[in-house]
Amino acid sequence: MLVYEGKAKRVFSTDDEQVYRIEYKDEVTAGNGAKKDVMAGKGRLNNLITSRFFELLMDAGYPSHFIERLSDTEQLVRKVDITPLEVVVRNIAAGSITKRLGFTKGESFRQPLVEFYYKKDELNDPLVTDDHVKLLGIADDVEIAELKRQALAINDHLIALMNRMNLDLVDFKIEFGKDKDGHILLADEISPDTCRIWDKETKENFDKDVYREETGSLIDTYIHFYNKMEAL
Ligand code: C5P
Repeated sequence: MLVYEGKAKRVFSTDDEQVYRIEYKDEVTAGNGAKKDVMAGKGRLNNLITSRFFELLMDAGYPSHFIERLSDTEQLVRKVDITPLEVVVRNIAAGSITKRLGFTKGESFRQPLVEFYYKKDELNDPLVTDDHVKLLGIADDVEIAELKRQALAINDHLIALMNRMNLDLVDFKIEFGKDKDGHILLADEISPDTCRIWDKETKENFDKDVYREETGSLIDTYIHFYNKMEAL
């Protein structure tokens, strides 16, 4: 049974109450749905890439909601209650932080920056402070610290993986959820839809910016990135 449909995925219940099946769609959006297209093969690529990242993270001791990949477009995941925060980690300035705070695109940060955005389409997912997160009743101090700790640990691991592909992890967005025991678990996806990834030398883009900025073919870019993952 369909339990949720988002911009890029459908979530279905299964016979096991604690397990969901996720189906990746061929839809691509940008600017909170302002720009929207259907691209054949996009769901497959995001599913393959996300599944591989979750497997690599699992092997390295970072658990997530991911259980296994079922097919080209489907995964089995643990059921979690999604925390309505987009957790963004930034290593290099790009995207919204260049506009909001005037950083120059490409500037490296001395240390990674963690930001929270409130997942609320009607409000356009605003940037929120720790105090806002508490005021909204989304997480308490201990949970906020845990979200940041996990986000930074995942950042360290993803940077190491990108280094092996000669790529820089500029920034990324992750989401977390709580399992039935209240444990905070990495959820959603990790793909070129949710990361900015640049070639270390040429600065070529391997992410959704090619679609946002209309600088190239999204499908060709994601295939190129997936091929590079063979090195991992
Ligand atoms: O737009 P901004 O620069 O804040 O995005 C930071 C990172 O978070 C980018 O890698 C972007 O792809 C990702 N992101 C996302 N989903 C959103 C907003 C940002 O995956 N709704």
